This record gives sequence, structure tokens and C-alpha cells, in this order.
Amino acid sequence: MSTSLAWDERYAGGGFQFGEAPNFYLESLAPRLRPGMRALALGDGEGRNGAWLAAQGLAVTSLDWSPVGSAKAAALAARRGVAMECVTTDASAWDYPEAGFDLVAWIYLHLPPADRAAAAAGVVRALAPGGMLALECFTPAQQGRRSGGPKMADLLWSRAIVEDLFGGLEVLELLEGTVRLDEGPRHQGPAEVVRALLRKPG
Ligand SMILES: C[S@@+](CC[C@H](N)C(=O)[O-])C[C@H]1O[C@@H](n2cnc3c(N)ncnc32)[C@H](O)[C@@H]1O
Repeated sequence: MSTSLAWDERYAGGGFQFGEAPNFYLESLAPRLRPGMRALALGDGEGRNGAWLAAQGLAVTSLDWSPVGSAKAAALAARRGVAMECVTTDASAWDYPEAGFDLVAWIYLHLPPADRAAAAAGVVRALAPGGMLALECFTPAQQGRRSGGPKMADLLWSRAIVEDLFGGLEVLELLEGTVRLDEGPRHQGPAEVVRALLRKPG
């Protein structure tokens, strides 16, 4: 059974594994965000994305299964003077609230296929009509690169997986390709990713 222990150890080491600035793709979506939107930062780790969304005026739930990560996320939000609800739980088993969010940020959350499908179903249920899913994850082409990502191939994403899991959502953007990461010590250099911005019809 998978546990959060490996992430707890990484996060306990001090510093911010992926930096304190938000993911660049998520930040680039700022023109689409409005204060008061309800956002779920899924697999939010040390909270760089959730805290940034909260600073944009969104009502943020930051979810991660690592208690060490969640505690750091809460501390980061507090340091920035923004409110953020932190939920420490497994993203594949959470009781996703029906139509509870206007935005879900799925940034570098890599789950085994069955867990990924369960979380994706929860996200689709949790998106309100018109709500958006923003996703950036590594693809199989990342294997062998030193800029981050899981070693196990079945945790990796692809455009086809996005289409399979989120087929009921409208595609605003869906791209696979090379980006240059500059996100803390763990994400540095050229990387192979899929980026998706999807919207729930309605
Ligand atoms: C690569 S880190 C990315 C963290 C954050 N999204 C970011 O971009 O800074 C992956 C995160 O997913 C979390 N995670 C992995 N499996 C999870 C699960 N089943 N449920 C909740 N969180 C999970 C880890 O604890 C870790 O914080």
C-alpha cells in the first residue's frame, strides 16, 4: 500500500522542494481567475500553488496526503496573510463535494492508474458547471531526464490519459511538449509535460 511517508521525509528536510512561487503554467492562467472563485489545489504539497491562488482572492482548499506538506502549506498561507483550508487526505479516496469548485489545480500529482481514475472522477464531480481543471504533469518522454518526476512509468501522464479520464470536459488547451522548469531544487531544467485546461460544460 502506498503511503505519504516518502513525501513526509522530503518535506521534513527543510526548504521548499518546488520553491515558493506558483507553477508557471498555473500562474499564466491568472487572467481567467476571479476573486471569490472556489479552488481546489490537489496534491498541493508545501502549498506554493494553493497559497498563490488564495493571494489572488480565491477561496482555496489545499489537499495533500502528507501531514508534513499540509502543515507547511498552512504555514505558508499564514505567512502571506491569506486564508486557506488544508485537508490532509488521500486524493483517490476523498469525498469530493458535488459542484464544490470553480477551479481544480492538478499540478504534478502522479498517481497509480486506479487511484488516478478515482481522483479524476472525483474532480469531474467536484467541478461546478463552467468550472476549470488546470493540469500539468510529466509524460513518458520525461524518463531519463533529471528535472523531476516519478520513476515508475505507469504514474506518468499523456494527452491520451487526459482525454480518457476527462472526456466529458471541454478542451480549452491540451498540449504535450517540452518546457523549461525552474521550480525549487526538484524541478530544474528541460522537462516533458502535458498541460491541460479543461472546462465543465454548463
Ligand atoms: C511532485 S509533488 C507536487 C506538489 C505540488 N503540487 C507542487 O506542484 O508544488 C506531488 C504531491 O502529491 C502528493 N500526493 C501523492 N500521492 C497522493 C495522494 N494519493 N493523495 C494526496 N496527495 C498525494 C505528495 O504528497 C506531493 O505533495
